[in-house]
Amino acid sequence: MRKKLVAGNWKMNGSLAKNQVLLDSVKQGLASAPCDVAVFPPFPYLLPAFESLRGTRVAIGAQTLSEYPEGAYTGEVSAGMLKELGCVYVLVGHSERRSLFGESDSTVAAKFVAALSAGLLPVLCFGETLAERNAGVALDVVKRQVLAVLERCGGVWPEQALLAYEPVWAIGTGLTATPLQAQEVHAFARSLLVSGVAERDAGVRILYGGSVKPQNAAELFAQPDIDGGLIGGASLQAEDFLGICRAAV
Ligand code: PGA
Repeated sequence: MRKKLVAGNWKMNGSLAKNQVLLDSVKQGLASAPCDVAVFPPFPYLLPAFESLRGTRVAIGAQTLSEYPEGAYTGEVSAGMLKELGCVYVLVGHSERRSLFGESDSTVAAKFVAALSAGLLPVLCFGETLAERNAGVALDVVKRQVLAVLERCGGVWPEQALLAYEPVWAIGTGLTATPLQAQEVHAFARSLLVSGVAERDAGVRILYGGSVKPQNAAELFAQPDIDGGLIGGASLQAEDFLGICRAAV
């Protein structure tokens, strides 16, 4: 049985003062969360978040990273730097990175490998646009995005790495994939992770993201291949975030 993870992707939101209020409330409600919990603040807020969460079981992740280890890459942040700070996770290939910042499947794969080699757990985000879903090619897109990374890993999915299915049409729109739509893609993605060790692939956590709210979390998380959530908007409100965590049994 895979333990669920609920991760808050804050995106480019927050301030020192707001984050402190948010994290204080999350800490207070944490005892009622049956799942693993993580937050992904913007880079400048990683260190203050560590200070605020020290001694709690909330893990911290970053929202992106550089594919390069060090050097003349102005503005970039390496996997080693994130690891040194104490990050456990890092998002790779979020649809906003792909569509707004031009990250290709190949860049995403390079970042994924860079994260692993520094000892971070990458969370590979993947998902189709509305046009792709309407054209009936959602699973083809998912396959392309997942295989680009799997191939870079020599065909064996790294044991601890995670995935997050985030249909682009559901992100920040209030539209959520139905539990069955999400389950279909999660099961398909899991079937792609053929390493020859079926038990291992069965242990990989695949999160769902896209307008998850306390009201719809439980039915999504009840699906057999949905192992938690990657939460955007609702992770900025402690009560909503905790409500989602409580649904992740
Ligand atoms: P949302 O974002 O929950 O606001 O839809 C999810 C995400 O982009 O990770």
